[in-house]
Order: sequence, then C-alpha cells, then structure tokens
Amino acid sequence: MRHASDAFFKEVSPFLLHLGMFVPSIIGQCTPEQQAKWLHRALDMQIIGTYAQTELGHGTFIRGLETTATYDPETEEFVLHSPTLSSYKWWAGGLGHTCNYCILVAQLYTKGKCYGIHPFIVQIRDEETHMPLPGIKVGDIGPRMGFSTANNGFLGVDKHRIPRENMMMKNAQVLKDGTYVKVSRHEKLTYGTMVFVRVILVHEVAFNLAKAVTIATRYSAVRRQSQLKPGFPEPQVLDYITQQHKLFIVIATSHALHLTSIWLWTTFTRVIADMRQGNTDALPELHALSSCLKALSTSVGADFIEQCRLACGGHGYMLSSNLPFIYSFVTATRTYEGDYTVLLLQTARFLVKSFEKAEAGKPLTPTVSYLETASKGGKATWNNSLEGMILSFERVAAGSIATCINSIRKKMETGMSCEDAWQQTAVSLVVAAEAHCRAVLCRVYWSEITRMTASSSPNVKTVMLQLVSLYLTYWALKSTGDLLRYSTISEEDIINLQHRYEELLGLLRPNAVGLVDAFDIRDELLQSTLGSWDGRVYERLMEEALKSPLNTQPVHDSFHKYLKPLMQGKL
Ligand SMILES: Cc1cc2nc3c(=O)[nH]c(=O)nc-3n(C[C@H](O)[C@H](O)[C@H](O)COP(=O)(O)OP(=O)(O)OC[C@H]3O[C@@H](n4cnc5c(N)ncnc54)[C@H](O)[C@@H]3O)c2cc1C
Ligand SMILES: *[C@@H]1O[C@H](CO)[C@@H](O)[C@H](O)[C@H]1NC(C)=O
Repeated sequence: MRHASDAFFKEVSPFLLHLGMFVPSIIGQCTPEQQAKWLHRALDMQIIGTYAQTELGHGTFIRGLETTATYDPETEEFVLHSPTLSSYKWWAGGLGHTCNYCILVAQLYTKGKCYGIHPFIVQIRDEETHMPLPGIKVGDIGPRMGFSTANNGFLGVDKHRIPRENMMMKNAQVLKDGTYVKVSRHEKLTYGTMVFVRVILVHEVAFNLAKAVTIATRYSAVRRQSQLKPGFPEPQVLDYITQQHKLFIVIATSHALHLTSIWLWTTFTRVIADMRQGNTDALPELHALSSCLKALSTSVGADFIEQCRLACGGHGYMLSSNLPFIYSFVTATRTYEGDYTVLLLQTARFLVKSFEKAEAGKPLTPTVSYLETASKGGKATWNNSLEGMILSFERVAAGSIATCINSIRKKMETGMSCEDAWQQTAVSLVVAAEAHCRAVLCRVYWSEITRMTASSSPNVKTVMLQLVSLYLTYWALKSTGDLLRYSTISEEDIINLQHRYEELLGLLRPNAVGLVDAFDIRDELLQSTLGSWDGRVYERLMEEALKSPLNTQPVHDSFHKYLKPLMQGKL
C-alpha cells in the first residue's frame, strides 16, 4: 500500500506526514472522545494534517523548543505563540500549502507554570478557501536536496487561540480551571510509536536498497564497456569483479535489513505484550536496539545507494535513472526521527550500563549477552566459519566498549567529571555502538536465513548462504584493524578471507540478475530508464530526453533573444 504511492509521486508525497504521523498521533495521543471528533475526518481526508515539532532553532533537543501554548481560563482557550524567529516551526512535510491542520508541539503553560512540551491540534487554514487563518504565518521552506514534492513548510503563530479541547489529552490534561493533570498511564508505552516508526524506516531502507541495486544490476547486465582481453568483444560491466564488489554486498544488505526489520517488529510486539503484564525489563534493550538499527541502516543505506549510482557511470547521474531521488530520500532518513550520532550515543549508554552489569555478574538481556564472556577480557579465537566470524564481531564490539569504559574511568580518576569524561570519549563510543549494531545485524541475518531456508530447495539454500557469507566476509575485511586488536586473526587468515570473498563474487555472478528480479519491483515503482525489466536502456534514455521542455521546438526562444545578438555582435 505504502509503496503504491511511489508509482504516483516520483518523489516524496506531500501526504506522507498525514498518514504517517497525523493520523497515528490522533490514535496514540487523543482520548476516545477526541478520536471520535477527529479521526474519521482525518481518515476521510476531509482535513489534511502534519506533525510540526522541529523549529528553526531546535530539532534534536526537543526540551529546547520555544513555541508556547498558554492556557487562558477566562475563555477556556490556549494561546499559541512563536516568541522568536528561532521558534518558527520548520520542516514538517505538507505544511507549506497542502495541510489545513497540524499537530503543533509547544511548551505548555498554565497557572504560571511550564509543564514541558505537549501536542495540540491546530487549524491553520480555512476549510473552504484554504487561506491561512489570522495569526498564522505559513509557507514552503524553499528548495532542498530532495523531498522537492513533499511541501515541507514553516509555521509561525501569533497569539493564535485554539479551544482547550484541542490539546491532545490522552497522556495529560488541562482542566477548565487550568489545573494540570497527568493521566496515570504507563509512560513507557509512548515509546511504542517511536519504535514503530524506526522499524518502518529500517524496512523502508531495505526496500530502497532493493530498488537501487535492481536498477544498477540490470543496467550492468545491459551495459558493455572496455575489454577484459585484447581482441575479445566488450563484456557486460557486471563481469568485472570490481563491479560485482560494488553491487552484490548491496543485495545481501537489502536482505539483511529486511529480515532484521521483521525480527525487530516481532521482538517489539513481544516486549509490548510483556509490558501489558507489567514487565518492562526488556524496554531499555529494545530502545537501544531500535536506535542503533535505525542509525546504521539509514547510514549504510545512503552509502550503498550512492555506490549503486556510481556503478552506473555517467548515466547514474541522470535524474531519469531515479538513483538521485532514491539517494536524496534515504540520506534524509539518516537525520530525521533521530540523528545518526545522537542515536548511537544513546545505544552506547545502554552498552556501558550492560557491560557494568556483566562485570558485577548480573544477568544480561539477549542482544548483549555476548558481553558476559567478553567482559572477562582476552581475544576471541578466530576461525572463519560463519559462527566463528560472528563471535569475533561480538568480541570486537565488547572490546570496543571495554576500551571506552577504561578510558572514561582513567579520565575520572584524574578528577574529570563524569559528563566531561563521557564527552571526550564520545567518538569511540559511537564506534563501539556501530560495532555492536553490526554484530547484531550479522547474527540476526544469519539466524533468520538459516531458519527461513530450513525447508527451501538446496539451490535456494546455497545461494542464500552465499549471500550471508559474502555479507560477513565483506565486513570482516572492512574490520581487519579491529579483528587484529580483539581476535587472534592472522595475516594468513586475512589473505584467505580475501580469496573467499573473490570466490563468492564469482559464485554469485550467474544469479545476480535473478536475485534482483526476485525483489519483484515493478517498473512503475522503479521509475528508472536504466533499471526497467526489458533492458531497453538507451531507448528509454532518449525517450525521456525528448520529453524535456527544451526540446519542444527546434530553435529555442533564447536563440532569438540572446544568442543571435551575441553572435552578431549586437548585444
Ligand atoms: C527531509 C526532512 C524532513 C523532515 N520532516 C519533519 C517533519 O515532518 N516534522 C518535524 O517536526 N521535523 C521534521 N524534520 C526535522 C528533523 O526531525 C530534524 O532535522 C532532526 O531531528 C535533526 O535535528 P536538527 O536538525 O536539530 O539537527 P541538530 O541536532 O542541530 O544536528 C546538528 C549536528 O549536531 C549533532 N548533535 C546534536 N545533538 C548532539 C548530541 N547530543 N551529541 C552529539 N552530537 C549532537 C548532530 O549529530 C549533527 O551532526 C525533517 C527533516 C528533514 C531533513
Ligand atoms: C569455529 O568456531 C565455532 C564457534 O566457536 C565452533 O562452533 C566451530 O567448531 C569452530 N570451527 C572450527 C573449524 O574450529
């Protein structure tokens, strides 16, 4: 369903935030009475909304938001106000000219006291004329790297009044007399939406990687260039091992992220079920996990999509290849819903706490249980079986965390504050969180493929295992420095790994096109001159070029206006 819109909007839909955030927030943050009032109108698209949280001055640090909502008991209204330029809302998708409502996040003041940020449903445009309401300053934020059709907007409110009932009151309420009441609920349940959005994002990255690598692999089978041997015909560029190196890891990564997102969702629903029973033990782990998986998948996703684009040479730079759009979409996901670095530092905090638990001999949650043996120190015994490689990745993660902890403790022994020691170690903490996340991805990918192919035909099983091996070998070769530090890997082992990697590329080559065809992404979704099913690359490039408005007349107006006078020296 979600992906069908890709076929209509070549880029991002201006309604993305309506269905992605506005509707879910009404469900998650409104009382049943409020839902009765708003939900059907939103679902029928009688009103169109978005989620306006980020301001010019603050995105990550939401406690720093400046927009205010001050309760006036006289009229039973909230007065919304943007006190500064930096308090203007900035970025919300669809806010520019599409939406007539939005969820506005503002600092709540009542009876002279600030109660922190809360969400409000705010009408911003007339339902008939679509004119901005008095006191509302709204518009598009201007051209951006991608998202050009997403209509991201700015919004300022000048002492704009809304009824008291427009505060989203499921978690907290302001009574008629202005009394603030926190509704006693499991506060931690609000994690739910956040984790949900992150699972969706990991899933989305897997899909976009599949798109990009489908385009690049099909094109590489059509494109012929240079010569492998003198006098021989030009080979498909897919026959160059360097090209296979660029592409096959992307196929494997799409599988790894797809399976991991489903696994994360299953884990999440289990944790939620436990929470309903009152057990919240697994929540910190889930939070740490969803944070680092969101960070790593969006970052690796953007890098690998760019790699696919570069693998298409000059034609990869054409917008009609669709690769620039896919890239600009995925690179934005690295920033929104939690910046890369900020999320990995949150995971690092969980890892440090878990390591300290392990040192104290306390039990650990499943995804960090590897810290139990690793916290005792010593190098992992390297062997190049899949299980052996994963164990070494886990030891790298554990070793990196231990190194950070030692460094923090040393700094604190010299009298440095805990915050300063943490801050000075943050570069290594991010690296440690990356290593942890990589280890989780490797283990989940391997165990899910093993489970899912248990009853597959031997051929399918073989190819799926080749992809997992490629994935693990690729990252082992990328991490030789860390492996030398934290495992017994030798120079000879590394040479063997490189040979194995080259061998795997060769084994996967005959199935490469079949593997991307198996993603089963229709041409209407790929939207690519280079990646279509029929391989008519050059025909499609020319057809698209001829659609350019510049090509409608044989002589463009600019010739008569500027070029001719210039050429005849009359300018
Ligand atoms: C395409 C797009 C669509 C968006 N859509 C919406 C939307 O619909 N609604 C909405 O409300 N918002 C939206 N946003 C805004 C988005 O959520 C924020 O941009 C995002 O949360 C990052 O916050 P920031 O811009 O304040 O970055 P900053 O936090 O200012 O980041 C700048 C740098 O500071 C670093 N940094 C910040 N804090 C720390 C820290 N504690 N430790 C170490 N480093 C730190 C970051 O790593 C980064 O390198 C959108 C953004 C984009 C790009
Ligand atoms: C490699 O390591 C794994 C995990 O420790 C172990 O199960 C396996 O037997 C080892 N294989 C070899 C060949 O040593």
